[in-house]
Formats: sequence, structure tokens, C-alpha cells
Amino acid sequence: MKAALRDRYGPPDVVELRDVADPVPSDDQVLVRVRAASVNRADLDGLTPRPAFARLFLGLRTPRNHRIGIDVAGVVKMVGAGVTRFKPGDEVFADLFAFGQGAFAELACAREKAFEPMPTGMSFDEAATLPHSAILALQGLRLRKSRSIQPHDRVLIVGASGNVGPFAVQIAKSMGAEVTGVCRTDKVDLVRLLGADNVIDYTQVDYTRTGERYDWILDTDSHHSIFRIRRALTPRGVYVTLGGKASRLFQGLLLGPLISLMSGRWMGLMIWWKPFNLEDVATLKALIAAGKVAPVIDRRYPLSEVVEALRHVDEGRARGKVVITM
Ligand SMILES: NC(=O)c1ccc[n+]([C@@H]2O[C@H](COP(=O)([O-])OP(=O)(O)OC[C@H]3O[C@@H](n4cnc5c(N)ncnc54)[C@H](OP(=O)(O)O)[C@@H]3O)[C@@H](O)[C@H]2O)c1
Repeated sequence: MKAALRDRYGPPDVVELRDVADPVPSDDQVLVRVRAASVNRADLDGLTPRPAFARLFLGLRTPRNHRIGIDVAGVVKMVGAGVTRFKPGDEVFADLFAFGQGAFAELACAREKAFEPMPTGMSFDEAATLPHSAILALQGLRLRKSRSIQPHDRVLIVGASGNVGPFAVQIAKSMGAEVTGVCRTDKVDLVRLLGADNVIDYTQVDYTRTGERYDWILDTDSHHSIFRIRRALTPRGVYVTLGGKASRLFQGLLLGPLISLMSGRWMGLMIWWKPFNLEDVATLKALIAAGKVAPVIDRRYPLSEVVEALRHVDEGRARGKVVITM
């Protein structure tokens, strides 16, 4: 089979398409003929580790895992002897982040528990956009133990035009919130089309300096100091950051809990991420079936152009999800 692999860290150019032996599923594994995969920021963060300390886990000088790609949708080709939930021909999707990756390949092989049946009536391209980003959006819009968004809350999605943001805008709208999206100039129309009530162009306006207050801020790529962001929160407001520069992540991790202790606000880094959590997958399927969430696909690339697909996302040109088709 053909598979996208990399032997060193670096920009998308380090990725090569190679011919490798077809994987053979072990007892508890499922072999899937990949029909579509999608690109996430996490793929790029793995190519050149971001934050840099991620090398401690990924491999100090070179990556331990050569496979790439986490979001996958396809058809079961073969199952191991111990597999009970799937049979050849079943249509499945998965987030392979915790299962060795390898979505950017003609065949993907992982443990049975990695996979779920595809949402009814959905194409492979659409299903492949969901596992990583839509679940992150869902989990970033509620706290682990307590608060969640209430109808009429004012919600700000920073990075509304990326991978996670478009799902977050739609999910927050489905909760009855008044949603403001933050993005660059040429993506303002996209964020409006997603259903945002207001859009802020971050090249023109700094949301921390407008005097507006929000009940919930979900930040996909943190650019501001936590103290400035605090000014944009209501007294019981919540700020959840998913990613960004290491300095911002440390602020969220270390200062966030202090601010949360000393005030009614909650601020911090999302550390409760459960990739492809079953309950959240069910919630997502229900939102899709109700027509409240729909993927936005910017472009499709064949597997042979996987490097171009990664570059398109890395350079911030994508207006929605980028799908790799087999
Ligand atoms: N915490 C966890 O457990 C966890 C788990 C998995 C992944 N993650 C992280 O979650 C994040 C997911 O993000 P994603 O995939 O949606 O990223 P993405 O697709 O790269 O989107 C980044 C967004 O940030 C926006 N942006 C860029 N510069 C900005 C600025 N100066 N001000 C405001 N917005 C700006 C971009 O807007 P434009 O495109 O309009 O420029 C874009 O909408 C990644 O950082 C990933 O590493 C976290």
C-alpha cells in the first residue's frame, strides 16, 4: 500500500509517499481501507513539535513514530479473530491520535476500540473531518466538572475559521448562545456563513480591548496574555484555551488555576481532552442528524498531494477542513 511517512522533524516537505507492506490486523485490530482523511493542526504540530517540549514524548532528535494522519473514514477490510463490533464492509471513522496514527495511507490498522460506525447518510469526506476537531470543539465548550454554556450566553470563539472553530461556532449556536467569531479579514464571510452573530477581524480589532465582555471564550490558538483576556470575561466567565505558543500554554496551566481560585471566573488550558470519547461522538451524531452541525470542506487533495494539503493548512490558507482522498 501507499502511505505518507516521515523520518525527521520539519515542514510538510519532510513527508514522503512510500510503498510499504499492507498491515495485518492482530486479534483485537481492524484493518480499514481508507476512503478519506483530514488534516488537523495536530498533524502539523507533530511534524515540527509544538510546543517544543513535546519532543520529550515524540522523540528528542527524530520522531519515534513515522506514520502521520489522525482523522480517518473508510470501509472495514479485515478484522482480527477477537473483534466483535465490526465486520468487513462496515463504514467506520476514527481519531487515530492515541492509536499510532497512519490515517494518510491507503490502509489503516488499529485496535477495534479506535473506531465507531460512521454517522448515517454521511459521505466519507465529511465523516473524515469530524473525529479530532469536532470533538475538541464539543469538549472545549464545557468544563470537566461544572459549568457549561447556557442559552443567551455571549460566547467568543477565537480562531473561528480554523479546524476546530467552525464546529465550535455551530455547536455554541445549537446551545442557544450569542456567538462572536474571531478570524482574519478574508475569512469573515466564512464565519458569518457558519452562523456567527458577530465577527471580529483580528487584523483590525483586538477583542481584549473593545470593552465587550463574554460568558465563555474558547481560544484555539492563544495569542494574548491571560491577564488581558481576563478583562474580556464577565465576572463568572470561562476562558478555555486549546493551544498556542508554549508561554501562553504555561500561563493557562499555571496562572489559570490561581485566577480561577481567586475569582468567580474559570481560566485555563483544556487538560480534560478525551479523544473520540464515545458519549461525545453520540452527541455529535445527534447534532449532525438534527442539522445543527455540518462540516465545511475547503479543498480535497489526492493522497499523492499530501504535502500540498499539509502546506495549505500550515500557511493558514484553508477556509474549512482539508480532506485527503484515496
Ligand atoms: N488541549 C488539548 O487537549 C488539545 C488536544 C488536541 C489539540 N489541541 C490543540 O488545539 C488546537 C486546535 O486548533 P485548530 O486545529 O482549530 O487550529 P487551526 O486550524 O490552525 O486554527 C487556528 C485559528 O487561529 C486563528 N488565528 C491565527 N492567528 C490569530 C490571531 N492573531 N488572533 C486570533 N486568531 C488567530 C486562525 O485564524 P485565520 O485562519 O483566520 O488566520 C485560525 O482560525 C491546536 O493548537 C492543537 O494543538 C489541544
